[in-house]
Amino acid sequence: MLDTLTYPYTLPSLPYQFDALEPIIDAQTMEIHHDKHHASYIAKLNEALKPYTDLQQKNLTELLSGIANLPEEIRQVVINHGGGHANHTIFWNTLRPNQENNNPQGTVLDFINSTFGDMNTFKTTFTTAASNRFGSGWAWLIFDPEKNVLEITSTSNQDSPLLVGQFPILGLDVWEHAYYLKYQNHRIDYINAWWNIINWEEANKTLEILL
Ligand SMILES: [Fe+2]
Repeated sequence: MLDTLTYPYTLPSLPYQFDALEPIIDAQTMEIHHDKHHASYIAKLNEALKPYTDLQQKNLTELLSGIANLPEEIRQVVINHGGGHANHTIFWNTLRPNQENNNPQGTVLDFINSTFGDMNTFKTTFTTAASNRFGSGWAWLIFDPEKNVLEITSTSNQDSPLLVGQFPILGLDVWEHAYYLKYQNHRIDYINAWWNIINWEEANKTLEILL
């Protein structure tokens, strides 16, 4: 998905309306998060890449995966704003309207069961990673192509799993801007509610492409 994104980067439309994720995520949070926060990462990434015509030829996956090869003076900007663009693109695409019994199926479920034992253990481990992330950051379900396994990780700020060779399947934004209007300081309530709006079909598709 991220390897189709290239300079000049543009803000992708949400695949649903701002109020589509109510009552789990309110419309105002969605609008500010997408139109202001995500848009700002894209604008700053474009600005940073303006003088670097060679880097403009790379797609977003290549930029983040090859971060060590970037000129030092723009490396951190690409980590922050390229990561911000990548992470939010994954986030929006792995959400969908609230539904009961929202569970994974197919390949992603097989991998979850073989890696974590069962869905409840996976959920508990992921929830712990998301709630223990100190300050701003993300919790991830990633695919490690070297080991051919799924793993749960967490990153700070806008660090992308791609920076360390891991491919994100599913990500949960635990920056306060993602939940504070509705949940205030109760991050755990936001995390627990998020399970109802995961687009598992999209996560499954991403995993199958990587296999
Ligand atoms: Fe965010």
